[in-house]
Amino acid sequence: MSTPAWSSHTRRPDLEAALNALAQIHHVAGDPPQVTLYELARLATDALQVERFGVWCATEDRSAIRLYFLYARSTGAVADGTILRKEDFASYFRAPDARTVCIDDVTSDPIAADLLVPYLQPLGIGALLDAPIYSDGLPSGMVCHEHVGGPRTWTDEERLFAGTVADNVSRLLEEGLRQRAEQNLRVYQRELQVLNRLEAMGRMAAGIAHDFRNLLTVVSASVELLAEEGLAPGQRSHLDNMLAAVTRGQDLAHELMHFGRDVAGRPTVQALRPFLDNLVRLSAASLGRCTVEVHQEREVSRVLIDRPELERVMLNLLNNARDAMGGSGVIRVEVTQATEDRKSAGLGRAVSIAVVDTGIGMDADTRLRVFEPFFTNKPGGTGLGLAVARQIVSRAGGTIEVESSPGVGTTMRVILPVIE
Ligand SMILES: Nc1ncnc2c1ncn2[C@@H]1O[C@H](COP(=O)(O)OP(=O)(O)O)[C@@H](O)[C@H]1O
Ligand SMILES: [Mg+2]
Repeated sequence: MSTPAWSSHTRRPDLEAALNALAQIHHVAGDPPQVTLYELARLATDALQVERFGVWCATEDRSAIRLYFLYARSTGAVADGTILRKEDFASYFRAPDARTVCIDDVTSDPIAADLLVPYLQPLGIGALLDAPIYSDGLPSGMVCHEHVGGPRTWTDEERLFAGTVADNVSRLLEEGLRQRAEQNLRVYQRELQVLNRLEAMGRMAAGIAHDFRNLLTVVSASVELLAEEGLAPGQRSHLDNMLAAVTRGQDLAHELMHFGRDVAGRPTVQALRPFLDNLVRLSAASLGRCTVEVHQEREVSRVLIDRPELERVMLNLLNNARDAMGGSGVIRVEVTQATEDRKSAGLGRAVSIAVVDTGIGMDADTRLRVFEPFFTNKPGGTGLGLAVARQIVSRAGGTIEVESSPGVGTTMRVILPVIE
């Protein structure tokens, strides 16, 4: 141990100045540091007259340290990335984490023994002054001041200075973490705002759609009355166009009303087989040249859900399957017991109702967005079918999943808890 610097050396004015500069960084408590790691590295390497300044951080499992930032004084270059596993350098890492390592001559100090050949010698490092950094009050890494060249005697003053530098690095890194956390929070808040807006929009749309549908009912009744009168063929086709437009308007209003609704209808116990048989009859008109085949495993499952709502879900899925197959083909409806390992396993015993088509399928982008309200790839589509379906299914305690590949087809799977 050398004699304390304070008594044996005159205080070094350059270190004194550097310390003052470091103190300035934090002279207003609570203010974020006004320097970058780069500036700190320059200040420290100039003051200590060392070539390399490295910030090493412990990996999550603390089995290794990773070079987070390296500054070389002679070139001003920075680097990062190297990883040193603690078990490979037992002599260095044997001592507790939170201590300053002060090595005057790496060739003779036992602490440096394991580092000598693989690390220190190739880089020409002759002496080390490493001080611990902390995160949340716990040791989390080291700031390493590496002297390139032969041995050198570190003074106590230099050791203290290295500790102050490390404290500044700790604060700088914690500040970075805090800023990242704040940024994540801001992103989250923005997403929440969008969701709230969507919800408000849904309510508003439902309100408007309700009034709008009543108006359309008046229009459609009048159009139908007009149609009963003896009309010329030209006039008749105008009326048909009006009726088609009004019907589409009514459908849209209906979807919008469902989209804005946030309470379940009146859930009742539904046995699936009769429900699906009825659904096949119900959907025949809108499916045109598509046919539906129902396949069901063993016993009949029962679910608890508002019947018209489940019909709406299934009709939306069938209509999408029809569109994907260009209006003709076989759509399979497969009822199976949902397997345990599904994401939806939390449901307990569950049934899966899959609507399988061999249509155009979806690309990855579409697959990610199908449940987004107003997302549609169809001219004249509402983009509400699947948004509504998901709302209804999740209100009933279930989930809805999509599996699709372009050119092969799509499977939409509704998973609902089963009533024993
Ligand atoms: N079975 C399917 N096959 C291929 N694409 C589908 C299928 N179902 C849904 N999609 C895609 O998801 C979009 C959104 O569907 P949906 O919410 O029902 O609204 P819409 O049918 O009015 O477009 C569709 O426009 C389509 O691109
Ligand atoms: Mg649809």
